[in-house]
Amino acid sequence: MFLQDQWYVAGTRGEFGSTPLRRIILGKAVVLFRTPDGDVAALEDRCIHRQVPLSMGSVQEDGTLQCLYHGMKFDKTGKCRFIPEQTRIPQNAQVKTYAVAEHAEWVWIWMGDAAEADTSRIPAYPWFVREGWKARTGHLYVKCNYKFIIDNLLNMAHLPYVHPRTIGSEGVIKDAKVAVTRSGNNVRLARKMYDIEPPPTYKKAGGFEGNVNRWQTIDFMAPSSFEFHTGVIEAGHEPPLPGIDQPRSNARILDRHSMHSVTPETETTTNYFVGFAYDPEACPPDLAEFIFEQTFATFQEDVVLLEAQQANMDMMPGHKQLDIVSDAAGLQAMKVLEELESIRS
Ligand code: FES
Ligand SMILES: [Fe+2]
Repeated sequence: MFLQDQWYVAGTRGEFGSTPLRRIILGKAVVLFRTPDGDVAALEDRCIHRQVPLSMGSVQEDGTLQCLYHGMKFDKTGKCRFIPEQTRIPQNAQVKTYAVAEHAEWVWIWMGDAAEADTSRIPAYPWFVREGWKARTGHLYVKCNYKFIIDNLLNMAHLPYVHPRTIGSEGVIKDAKVAVTRSGNNVRLARKMYDIEPPPTYKKAGGFEGNVNRWQTIDFMAPSSFEFHTGVIEAGHEPPLPGIDQPRSNARILDRHSMHSVTPETETTTNYFVGFAYDPEACPPDLAEFIFEQTFATFQEDVVLLEAQQANMDMMPGHKQLDIVSDAAGLQAMKVLEELESIRS
């Protein structure tokens, strides 16, 4: 039940080297590795001989992946290049491969027909490819369906309850100006909160004395990626427009660009990738680290809830859910996914 003809994050770029790495993506075992010429290859993690995981093998100097069991070698196109004790390599000695592309901090994988893999459909993440900018990335493994995480990231009403120690405060849900818009397969949730007390992380990181105006612009890009432009500015000053550089002013501001992308592993497990892009000129490394640590701790709080939600639904399946007003963006995203699923079936 997963959308195949889409780009998903397979992992962060630094994860892939000459040691083969097995990752389950959309219920399929994939082995990823980097060849000596620097390319990332993604093969089905199953030897065509006796089906052992190829990830148990090793990458050779010639860039082939050698199976640990009887030593057959496969190149990055999945073609067999060596079979012990025979010179003839059968035509059909071929392992399935997947299209991969490196963009920003991540390696992206297309689980459908490789001929359809159009790299222009990978989320652009402009803040992560900006000259001079740096990024901090993280990875969480969550025992829940990937759609629960999408629903979580599009309903900000959970912030004061789940994250009061970091990014949540009562002000988030008090008179927020909220707009939900859809454009193609993308959904934008834009929220502005005026003259509120800054939440703990922002108070500490930005040194705000008084109240702030806060904004959250969250762009969901089907099937499972997000771009977040969020922050706070001294009360009395208008938040920057979504995706635009902050206007030069003397107002104290904390302007943040982050990403989230979730890759289904199975129906009830998900690899969850996060990243935070920053301009080291404006945000010194220790401040960037502080913000990252605080937000990563925040996501871990979500993981506890998401796993409890999945466990509860597994125990008591088939119940209808009650939707509330703050679900609007999440429901739009689910509609986009349902439409894409119906095209496929
Ligand atoms: S199982 Fe891979 S070579 Fe035999
Ligand atoms: Fe959260």
